[in-house]
Amino acid sequence: MAPVTSLSDSVNQQLGSAISATLPEASADPLLRRSDRADFQANGILALAKKAKVNPRDLATQVVSRIVTGDVIKDVEVSGPGFLNITVTDRAITDNLAARYADETGRLGVPHAADPGITVVDYAQPNVAKEMHVGHLRSAVIGDALRAMLDFTGEKTIGRHHIGDWGTQFGMLIQYLVENPGELAPAADVDGEQAMSNLNRVYKASRMVFDSDEEFKERARKRVVALQSGDKETLDLWQQFVDESKVYFYSVFEKLDMEIRDDEIVGESAYNEGMPETARLLEEMGVAVRSEGALVVFFDEIRGKDDQPVPLIVQKADGGFGYAASDLTAIRNRVTDLHATSLLYVVDVRQSLHFKMVFEAARRAGWLTDEVTAHNMGYGTVLGADGKPFKTREGETVRLEDLLDEAVQRAAEVVREKAQDLTEDEIQERATQVGIGAVKYADLSTSPSRDYKFDLDQMVSLNGDTSVYLQYAYARIQSILRKAGEVRPTAHPELELTEPERALGLHLDAFGTTVFEAAAEYAPHKLAAYLYQLASLYTSFYDKCPVLKADTPPQVENRLFLCDLTARTLHQGMALLGIRTPEKL
Ligand code: ARG
Repeated sequence: MAPVTSLSDSVNQQLGSAISATLPEASADPLLRRSDRADFQANGILALAKKAKVNPRDLATQVVSRIVTGDVIKDVEVSGPGFLNITVTDRAITDNLAARYADETGRLGVPHAADPGITVVDYAQPNVAKEMHVGHLRSAVIGDALRAMLDFTGEKTIGRHHIGDWGTQFGMLIQYLVENPGELAPAADVDGEQAMSNLNRVYKASRMVFDSDEEFKERARKRVVALQSGDKETLDLWQQFVDESKVYFYSVFEKLDMEIRDDEIVGESAYNEGMPETARLLEEMGVAVRSEGALVVFFDEIRGKDDQPVPLIVQKADGGFGYAASDLTAIRNRVTDLHATSLLYVVDVRQSLHFKMVFEAARRAGWLTDEVTAHNMGYGTVLGADGKPFKTREGETVRLEDLLDEAVQRAAEVVREKAQDLTEDEIQERATQVGIGAVKYADLSTSPSRDYKFDLDQMVSLNGDTSVYLQYAYARIQSILRKAGEVRPTAHPELELTEPERALGLHLDAFGTTVFEAAAEYAPHKLAAYLYQLASLYTSFYDKCPVLKADTPPQVENRLFLCDLTARTLHQGMALLGIRTPEKL
């Protein structure tokens, strides 16, 4: 199956040849977009005319005279100062959609990128021995969607879950375990919930002794040294904390309906061995300098309070390495060993200064070159209904699991109310798909840089821009297809299309372009907006165009074909966002 070019691509090609026939020196980029006045509008002529110092309307008129209307382009006219309004034929729309429909790979005919790269996606990075909270939600959900979108375009992605599994707090935890053996059950014997409640208990208990007992504090400090020097007993106990935490992480990711691979959980500790070299190289190159015993990188342009330059600390005065050193070492690994061409960090916007400094230091050291892009997709905060950072009524941070459970519970109410021929088991299964989908969609449909309100009532509402609305559209189509029985969806390019059919068809045509754009811009909300519009266009189509009761048998088949392609596109698009589309709702 050959990849299908979208209609806008083929129109663009024709425009391109007409332009270069008119202006041979022009590198044509007619910039086609969907328009209300015609099917497409090209607005690149203005810039070309300006460059060639000719009158834009004249240029547009000449280009139009060179365009052969017929199979694809039905009509083209000059509008305004030099725009082109283009209408395509009904046949071209249906032909094009039929080609996608025939694609058995499930890619809907969307081609792979010609020259894909390797993107390392740093996302879903909770911290060992700590509970996951609502702040960890966005990184996981956005990262997972971006990854699927990039993969779909043909990019190779490598996941890195840079979990917080190192630091001085482990001295306290491990020392407590040494003195209270058996407080952590072996990881193999517990489920996620037990693991977390054990970890919580140990955390609180050790904190208490640490804060009240000076001698314990001293023993904990020595334990940090033992951990850093690789003492076997200490490392084993550390490993136990990590393993136990992973049991818990996995249970939460499973709830989130998200696949996390063990070999991609590469936490801060994985870079320990490389950190001394990172420091040495930075110092040798003069990128980092000694300042009051510490090894730091200064930036003229980055200043904090009192206009003092904020340094990036590579190595503390006591010789210890921290967060920056592990991230710098990780960059070396990702570029040199993993051959990344792009580094993407899905991390809270509050860490953006850290990444700005880390990237700049890595550029100075030559670890990041012009061939490698590095980007921190700093996402905004999840807010409560009151518009303040999301907290429980008691003012505590919200546990991610509680929040997911509540979403599923709410979704169950919605599903139950609408359910016609569903068993109780089916209702529960749908509730999970609807509830988790709602949480993901609410997150992904807002631009990542913006804060959003965690409002369950709105999230599971059947009206409006929600995943349930999309899931219902999908399920409704499946029900029509079931009712169609023996009648198979079949494209009939010879048929004239009505206005809602054309609008739906042209929007379907834009699927591939939208995914590529959304992936390239790291903008899942653009894909979400596309899907919402698809469902809306489908609804208008369905309201105005009877499907099973259409006038003629070919029209029934053609409308079923539009229904089925809409369903497949919804399914594929939602899958890229990590959201399920149940067959029945
Ligand atoms: N574990 C960190 C946190 O919870 C996020 C890690 C982000 N990734 C990184 N490469 N620094 O804040």
